Amino acid sequence: MKTFYIETFGCQMNAHDSEKVVGTLLKTGYTQVAEAADAELIVYNTCSIRDKAEQKVFNRLQTFKRDGGKGKLFAVLGCVAQQEGERIFERAPHVSLVAGSASYTKLPEMLVQLEAGNRRVTGLSLDTNETFDTPFTRRDNPHRAYITIIEGCDKACAYCVVPFTRGPERSRTGESVMREAASLTELGYTEVQLLGQNVNSYRDPSSAGWDFAALLTEVGQIQGMRRVRFTTSHPRDFVKNIIDAIDEHPTLCNHVHLPVQSGSSEVLSRMHRLYSRDQYMRRIEWMKNARRDIAITTDIIVGFPGETEAEFEQTLKLAEEVEYDSMFIFKYSKRPNTPALEYEDHIPEDEKTRRFTVLQERQRAIQMRRNAKYVGTTEQVHVEGYNLATSQWIGRTMQNKTLNFQDPGLPAPDGGKTLVGRYLDVLVTRAGPNSLAGERADRCAN
Ligand code: 5AD
Ligand code: SF4
Repeated sequence: MKTFYIETFGCQMNAHDSEKVVGTLLKTGYTQVAEAADAELIVYNTCSIRDKAEQKVFNRLQTFKRDGGKGKLFAVLGCVAQQEGERIFERAPHVSLVAGSASYTKLPEMLVQLEAGNRRVTGLSLDTNETFDTPFTRRDNPHRAYITIIEGCDKACAYCVVPFTRGPERSRTGESVMREAASLTELGYTEVQLLGQNVNSYRDPSSAGWDFAALLTEVGQIQGMRRVRFTTSHPRDFVKNIIDAIDEHPTLCNHVHLPVQSGSSEVLSRMHRLYSRDQYMRRIEWMKNARRDIAITTDIIVGFPGETEAEFEQTLKLAEEVEYDSMFIFKYSKRPNTPALEYEDHIPEDEKTRRFTVLQERQRAIQMRRNAKYVGTTEQVHVEGYNLATSQWIGRTMQNKTLNFQDPGLPAPDGGKTLVGRYLDVLVTRAGPNSLAGERADRCAN
């Protein structure tokens, strides 16, 4: 019996890649184990978006070497694998397989080589127009299923490794996405999340030629589908018909993650983001003018090389103007192969930390304000779990907000009785910066 253990770092694309890798390994005759110590093959699916993420995998590999990785096989997949390539064999000689995501379709062949005793197996070519479609995906989450619609990235943001680690953009055919989505509803899934580094540049390569809004609309109309999410959007390719689709089709979630990165047009230009502050704000206006109340979230990098205090202030101002529902803030991190590495005026670490904290505090106040508006409203949640510590059910609203709630009729899971997986109406009674709390409103809902 061949056993493997897998640990995944990084974004949802990586999480979903791992689900496909696990499916492939199971199909090839491997069994998954929960502890690395019990596995013959240890797989790390890695992230290199920031230096810290990259260091994590090397720490893991070092620890294992010390603590008895003897006799085990190690595989490094994902973005660090693609970025560092064969250098990984030098840094960590006990690694036998190094493969980036653009090579996963060749995973079965690579496993054969590994089993034949080859200790330097690689999958590092980025020269592909294939996507990793497999019927053997082993999904972790029983309620929300990921579907990759587009892989790779053709943008060239000055700070970002992704174009180097995930290769050129390639879209799946609309038909194959629809087939996967329909088969998921047949399995009982009611919520899916369409994934890509830049979903807005999706273009069906078949003659149907759907754009992203068309695909979104079609997926939203599949029988049994209740919620369709998508991530990530690039502002440059984010067009108005996406908002129109959300307005027209209630199954499309009213939440858009639209990373702005900076509120200063000068910084955006140095970042090669391909849009100005004004152009970004136009997209925000579309959303604010939509019929549905659309939640907007973003990513911001503080301390990009050369970012002046005045430019940072622009970001603070933009955050106030947009009133984001949530924000991921990152301190700029130097990445190999990227143009920004060569830029002048790198910002000292303690200044980056200061800007991070200032923005975080501002955003916390904005979220308090935003969330307080929901008190007294009734929101539909998809129930995701139960929190024993707080004795509350955990729900997720259409806008992707966490809404914890109590149900006097079923205060806790009871034998086979659970609310998990159901869609219920919840009255919001309290709001915090990061979540809402309430009580089940409609006991008769499905
Ligand atoms: N340093 C800091 N943050 C980065 N991101 C991407 N590259 C870097 C970098 N070199 C952030 C961006 C992106 C998110 C996924 O990670 O904000 O949207
Ligand atoms: Fe990390 Fe980016 Fe790779 Fe996702 S695509 S795993 S965030 S480097």
